[in-house]
Amino acid sequence: MHDVPRHVAIIMDGNGRWANARGLPRTAGHARGEPALFDVVHGALELGIEWLTVYAFSTENWSRAREEVEFLMHFNTDLLRRRRDELDDLGVRVVFIGDRDDPRVPDELRAEIAEAEALTRDNRRMTMVFAFNYGGRVEIARAARRVAEEVAAGTLDLADVDPEAVARRLYLPEMPDPELVIRTSGEQRISNFLLWQVAYAEFVFTPVLWPDFDRNELARCVDEYRRRERRFGGAVDAVAGVDPD
Ligand code: IPE
Ligand code: IPE
Ligand code: MG
Repeated sequence: MHDVPRHVAIIMDGNGRWANARGLPRTAGHARGEPALFDVVHGALELGIEWLTVYAFSTENWSRAREEVEFLMHFNTDLLRRRRDELDDLGVRVVFIGDRDDPRVPDELRAEIAEAEALTRDNRRMTMVFAFNYGGRVEIARAARRVAEEVAAGTLDLADVDPEAVARRLYLPEMPDPELVIRTSGEQRISNFLLWQVAYAEFVFTPVLWPDFDRNELARCVDEYRRRERRFGGAVDAVAGVDPD
């Protein structure tokens, strides 16, 4: 059995379907995702998880209806304002990854992000990473642009451009790769989430819709991860009880 993962990353999916099933607007599903998220934060702290990354808004989510996008912008602003002290009291450091400088991101949200990060910056119990206006391809392209700029400026040798050089130019270079990625709602795809960092992650897909997810579901996903065999490209060890002939 593996230890509890250091870093768990979650694709919080299924809010719209949760709401549709109840005859409610999709936005009601997003609102019901908030208690699920905070129960998961408590669960992650109980389990001793050091890094929790949650996919809050993708670079592709701008293509949704204007009302839904506007709701999500206000909702995230409001959530940060209402919940930042609680996260701080829990010893959680809040960090955002993604393009917050995008002009489509409202100024109030940008300000709340900065406020939550500043308030919690010295907390050490757990780091909670909000992937907001985040896309893995944008992140990697941005790192590649930085590499190119430094090579062009003569401050980086072309021969030193290796995976570590790219990794050091991602949004949050100190973030360890997630050992476990969870996606709720039954979809089995990555949807542009942490493309670089999940090279050897274990994936757990659960049919539970995000508003119904909680700390018990998190513990179940972690249990499944702990039973997995991880190989990292190596050979399988001799299997006990199986005759090699
Ligand atoms: C995930 O739930 C939340 C965001 C993408 C912001 P969805 O809104 O994608 O819910 P479904 O997939 O339509 O059910
Ligand atoms: C991924 O979910 C993004 C977030 C959870 C924020 P989506 O619902 O946007 O992904 P697709 O469209 O099903 O791939
Ligand atoms: Mg979805």
